[in-house]
Amino acid sequence: MVSQHTIRLEFSHRVFPTRDVFASENRVLSDLIGDHAEDRPTKILFIADANVLAARPMLASEIADFCTASGGNILLAAPIFPVPGGEPAKNDWSLVEKIWAEINRAKLDRHCYVVAIGGGAVLDLVGFAAATAHRGIRHIRMPTTTLSQGDGGVGVKNGVNFFGKKNWIGTFTIPFAIINDYAFLDLLPEREKRAGIIEAIKVALIRDADFFYELEANAPALAALEIAALERVVERGAELHIEHIATSGDPFEFGSARPLDFGHWIAHKLEQVSDFAVGHGEAVAIGIAADLFYSVEAGILDEETAQRIIGFIEKIGFATYSEYLKNDVILQGLEEFREHLGGELTITLVPEIGKKLEVHEMNREHILTALRRLQERESSTCS
Ligand SMILES: NC(=O)c1ccc[n+]([C@@H]2O[C@H](COP(=O)([O-])OP(=O)(O)OC[C@H]3O[C@@H](n4cnc5c(N)ncnc54)[C@H](O)[C@@H]3O)[C@@H](O)[C@H]2O)c1
Ligand SMILES: [Zn+2]
Repeated sequence: MVSQHTIRLEFSHRVFPTRDVFASENRVLSDLIGDHAEDRPTKILFIADANVLAARPMLASEIADFCTASGGNILLAAPIFPVPGGEPAKNDWSLVEKIWAEINRAKLDRHCYVVAIGGGAVLDLVGFAAATAHRGIRHIRMPTTTLSQGDGGVGVKNGVNFFGKKNWIGTFTIPFAIINDYAFLDLLPEREKRAGIIEAIKVALIRDADFFYELEANAPALAALEIAALERVVERGAELHIEHIATSGDPFEFGSARPLDFGHWIAHKLEQVSDFAVGHGEAVAIGIAADLFYSVEAGILDEETAQRIIGFIEKIGFATYSEYLKNDVILQGLEEFREHLGGELTITLVPEIGKKLEVHEMNREHILTALRRLQERESSTCS
């Protein structure tokens, strides 16, 4: 006889926005761990993006002082473990083994914590290593880029690249908590500061018209990359992101729809054909603009709204065309996107600000027209 039971698990998916998390008066991390403290000191292993450590040379001593100030409640399991920043973090399998070795050396068990500090790439690497050591050690993420604080870093996925493919190995694991410390954003170069804004525009377009209008009204401050405007973008972007994960009914992506990947089918391909010279945020800006003009061609969106959104994206400083779009292989991006979803092709489009629409086919001629329109637009603004 078949024996069958439903297993229901409850998780809390939470983001704590703060500034200067390791300052002596900041209680975010100690309260979080204190909530779960047992009758012994809590061991934490910190793993950090080497570029963040370089940009903030005092970070290691700030963390050491923070642990000392806990009066023995928090124990540094080992000195901060540095890993290379950016995509190299995910391209080198030996880093996973090195993190496991460090966890083993420090004798961390499932009641200890691994804290990752860094850009989305480092969080993906450390999240994977922590999720697989002892079948899952409590993991706290501290994203340090606008993009990871508002988007990738607040998700439930981790992974590394393998067989030359992005994120081929990885798990869906809800982190113990995410702490968005805005002080890290001050250290970012301009390009990285701007990158996260486009993911906030994306999530506003598919979920929250009011947030889109707010962003639009704030265009000058965003274009100037003013820190208060960036913090607001990250804060609301992160809220919408985790709300989507928690309420969409498919946190572990069993289905084929990925609304948070709006504008991403072209973006992924553009990053690849440019050999990552076009960054993720830059590629998403172009991908969104292309999908908006596509939607006009397909009769899904009116011309005026498409112009309004594309004009706003440009005002913030994003290009909406790249020479790499001339390459016909961009169209292969659709098939690769289908493989990435692992099922039926599902592309999210925006029929009006704040609403989404899923389609399962894309018309090749309409795509080419959309790309041509972006090229003409660029030539007319350049001349
Ligand atoms: N897990 C997910 O759900 C998810 C979602 C989206 C993206 N991602 C992944 O995230 C990665 C991209 O993340 P990203 O945009 O944060 O870029 P990134 O991790 O590549 O970081 C960009 C660069 O900035 C450096 N850096 C990070 N923080 C800094 C700081 N505060 N000061 C100075 N330099 C700093 C990094 O070392 C790197 O060189 C990709 O690998 C992507 O696949 C994951
Ligand atoms: Zn993205």
